[in-house]
Amino acid sequence: MEAEDESTNTTQVNVLSDPFLRIRERMNSKIAELSGRLGFLAKEKDVLGLGKGLRKVSQAPTTSLVNESRIYGREQDKEKLINLLLSYDYVSGNNVSVITIEGMVGIGKTTLAQLIYNDDKVAQHFELLVWVYVSEDFDATRVTKTILESVTATVCDINDLNFMQAKLRDRVKGKRFLFVLDNLCNENYHDWNLLQAPFQYGAGGSKVVITTRNTTVASIVRNLPTYCLQPLSGEATWLLILEHALGNRDPISVRNVEELDKETAVRKCHGLPLIAKALGGLLRHTVF
Ligand SMILES: Nc1ncnc2c1ncn2[C@@H]1O[C@H](COP(=O)(O)OP(=O)(O)O)[C@@H](O)[C@H]1O
Ligand SMILES: [Mg+2]
Repeated sequence: MEAEDESTNTTQVNVLSDPFLRIRERMNSKIAELSGRLGFLAKEKDVLGLGKGLRKVSQAPTTSLVNESRIYGREQDKEKLINLLLSYDYVSGNNVSVITIEGMVGIGKTTLAQLIYNDDKVAQHFELLVWVYVSEDFDATRVTKTILESVTATVCDINDLNFMQAKLRDRVKGKRFLFVLDNLCNENYHDWNLLQAPFQYGAGGSKVVITTRNTTVASIVRNLPTYCLQPLSGEATWLLILEHALGNRDPISVRNVEELDKETAVRKCHGLPLIAKALGGLLRHTVF
């Protein structure tokens, strides 16, 4: 009887001496699980490379609206790109500058493009602003139609590319525009040339911003140096994990939060906000 009491006491003492042991173990196993689920990224030879082998990842369409309550660690990227957008490009001699934002899936290209598209200075600078989500199966007619409908604010019933391009040319003529083509994957030079033909009629200072995970696409379409988006910093990654793990709760008020293994969690995310969000979400459901 005495021995039994003793062993019970010992167990209690162990648990009390490291009350966070289980939470740490669970968190580490969740991180391992997540790493497995996102193996398609981790298996990349160079996980921070630019998307080779990731072409089959399908994505939901995007819009110009930022859908995150908080964006972490992109202040400098935003500032640099906005400066580029507001400047004239005398170097290339083109009326229309094509800027590519390049980086692997989930690094935050679309989010950054949304941030600059919605900036007040940018909105004031351009007369026409259009956001187009370009799906995997690129179609010049569809993209042209989306742009035309957006600049005319009317539905276009005629699907003839020639007709639509002529209309678009008339609409952009002498106007300073910003078109964002989000997620362009098509490597065909002819398709790009076809699509951008009416763009050339825009006023000087017009810009086309293209997000792509494909280096070849970037080299085909751009006429300014590409903007290679870098992974998030460790601190920004951590803040993003915490936001999704804790929701609106103040970290100070959440028990055990200081026991999370910050270093491991941040390392596993490779600076990709897509993974940081997924990890935070998993922790929210399983740990807190
Ligand atoms: N800096 C950031 N702060 C917070 N969330 C971000 C940030 N960058 C991206 N995200 C979120 O991460 C996910 C992936 O970002 P996204 O812009 O779609 O990546 P990409 O276009 O490069 O594939 C999205 O859910 C987005 O809202
Ligand atoms: Mg994207």
